[in-house]
Amino acid sequence: MHREHLIDNLNLLVVDSYEKMSEYAAGFVLSEIKTNPNLLICTATGSTPTLTYDLVAKEYEKAPEIFSHIRIIKLDEWGGVSMDDPATCEVYLREHLIQPLHIDESRFISFKSNPDESKQEVERIQKELENKGPIDLCILGMGVNGHLGFNEPVEKLQAHAHVAQLADSTKDHTMAQKTKGNIVYGLTLGIEDILASKKILLLVNGEHKREPFDTFLSQEVTPEFPVSMLWKHSDVTVMCDEGAHSVR
Ligand code: GLP
Repeated sequence: MHREHLIDNLNLLVVDSYEKMSEYAAGFVLSEIKTNPNLLICTATGSTPTLTYDLVAKEYEKAPEIFSHIRIIKLDEWGGVSMDDPATCEVYLREHLIQPLHIDESRFISFKSNPDESKQEVERIQKELENKGPIDLCILGMGVNGHLGFNEPVEKLQAHAHVAQLADSTKDHTMAQKTKGNIVYGLTLGIEDILASKKILLLVNGEHKREPFDTFLSQEVTPEFPVSMLWKHSDVTVMCDEGAHSVR
């Protein structure tokens, strides 16, 4: 069972479980890939999109050719730990998308987690995005504090790729808890980079997201709650499960 709502330009799909949300999301992503074989997909990590990615990856067995030109750009990365640290978005994305879909290195744009100069690293990624962008499909999750990537709540959001100071709740994230090192900062695309995407898919699940998701649905746009910036975009699809959605 699912309920669909159109709120201004935003298409909200509420389904009854995480599994269903992931099935719809994987279907959405696959249909975008079939429409544009060169799709540049920006990928969040975390617990939310994992099953979606695994379902997309499953499709490789049936139709490997549809993935031979797609490109992936990593949304964000934990900084100060080695690339093979179990906490990194690098390890996550390689396991769930890059390896199963056989994406070669030239089609993967990826922040290094341990650059010598973090500022140069974000500038490198920004140039890559300028040369290879814009993002066609941006797949996002939402932090419990409303962050998008590592665009944390602040008075003024940064437009482009930058080194971010992590909020305390972010440092407690389940991914960060897996580190064998010491996470010091975040590297992330900026809010304008995200909003320049042609299409955005936001995934939200679980009761722990209900309160922040309610705040999002209030439609108040503020840098203190970065995910609210998505209300400024004209093509956003949000998929959530009933755990995250209070009946209004
Ligand atoms: C993490 C990541 C984000 C992710 C978000 C939600 O810190 N930096 O890219 O979307 O927080 O994570 P989760 O899906 O585990 O709730």
